[in-house]
Amino acid sequence: MLEVTDLRTHFFTFGGARVVKAVDGVSFRLREGETLGLVGESGSGKTTTCMSIVGLLPRAGRVVGGSVLFEGEDLTRKSQRELRRIRGRRIAMILQDPMASLNPLFTIFRQVAEPAFFHQHLRGRTLRERVRHLLESVRIPSPEWRMRDYPHQMSGGMRQRIVGAIALAGGPRLVIADEPTTNLDVTIQAQYLDLLKDIQRETGVALIFVTHNLGIVAKMCDRVAVMYAGKIIEQGPVRALFDDPKHPYTRALLGSVPKLGSKEPLYAIAGQPPNLADLPSGCAFHPRCPEAVPRCATEEPGDVHLAGGRVARCWLVSDGLTRS
Ligand SMILES: Nc1ncnc2c1ncn2[C@@H]1O[C@H](COP(=O)(O)OP(=O)(O)O)[C@@H](O)[C@H]1O
Ligand SMILES: [Mg+2]
Repeated sequence: MLEVTDLRTHFFTFGGARVVKAVDGVSFRLREGETLGLVGESGSGKTTTCMSIVGLLPRAGRVVGGSVLFEGEDLTRKSQRELRRIRGRRIAMILQDPMASLNPLFTIFRQVAEPAFFHQHLRGRTLRERVRHLLESVRIPSPEWRMRDYPHQMSGGMRQRIVGAIALAGGPRLVIADEPTTNLDVTIQAQYLDLLKDIQRETGVALIFVTHNLGIVAKMCDRVAVMYAGKIIEQGPVRALFDDPKHPYTRALLGSVPKLGSKEPLYAIAGQPPNLADLPSGCAFHPRCPEAVPRCATEEPGDVHLAGGRVARCWLVSDGLTRS
């Protein structure tokens, strides 16, 4: 249903004097009802990838190459108006901070009702029923009462459920959730993840789940794509990739898997992620890579397609030198 091919999104700052290659040749596919985990350190381009798909880039950002085929249409060629329609119905977003998606001045009813009011033209009792149903579907207790509340009267976990209800209102085929549980505490986080899984089972919606938590990926996802410096350096089915990571960066990540729900940064990898405006030569990971060979510093590796739907970008893999 979604096929992202060689997507490139750059930020042009200081009047174009500085170019940040936030997304630089990203390709992946998503099937109907599937969950893809997008993981990587902060600044690796996860959010920019998502925003490029739905056409919500900040002003300085531009898709400079590649395509985003969604149900057969290239979203990178759509007008803002067409994209707004698509976002209201077929693709929904859940962001890290629910307050960024909610209007503090409007009741929950008004905000959850809005998509059904504008897109499905529901009114009166029918509209009220629809809102109650949506709130029930995200397990809001006493929805008749809670729909009169304002966002500040709810807990963080409850607010994120409301955002989920709004996301589901248009009956989307794809939900993109960008670190939706990062601000929630552990029990609430686990409940929210269970809720997302239940909704997915009930509706068959496909999900892109962005997180820096590999425990969550293991729990939630069918496939996983690991980003580093604007590129997917490895992707494949979760089990296979976790059992037998091919890229040294993935191995390093998995060497420090946190407990589900931990808020600690999990990356015990020496060195810093690179500056995206001034990338290292060759493979961007080579300065931090414990397994780098001379070629890694001079030539950039391409995608190596492996058995079982796996892809890795590493000279050691393409040259058959990888350890595992
Ligand atoms: N509005 C912006 N202007 C300039 N650079 C940006 C902007 N937003 C993000 N970036 C840069 O793009 C890169 C990727 O950011 P992001 O996609 O947010 O990563 P992630 O979600 O993985 O943390 C970062 O280097 C960040 O500094
Ligand atoms: Mg992000």
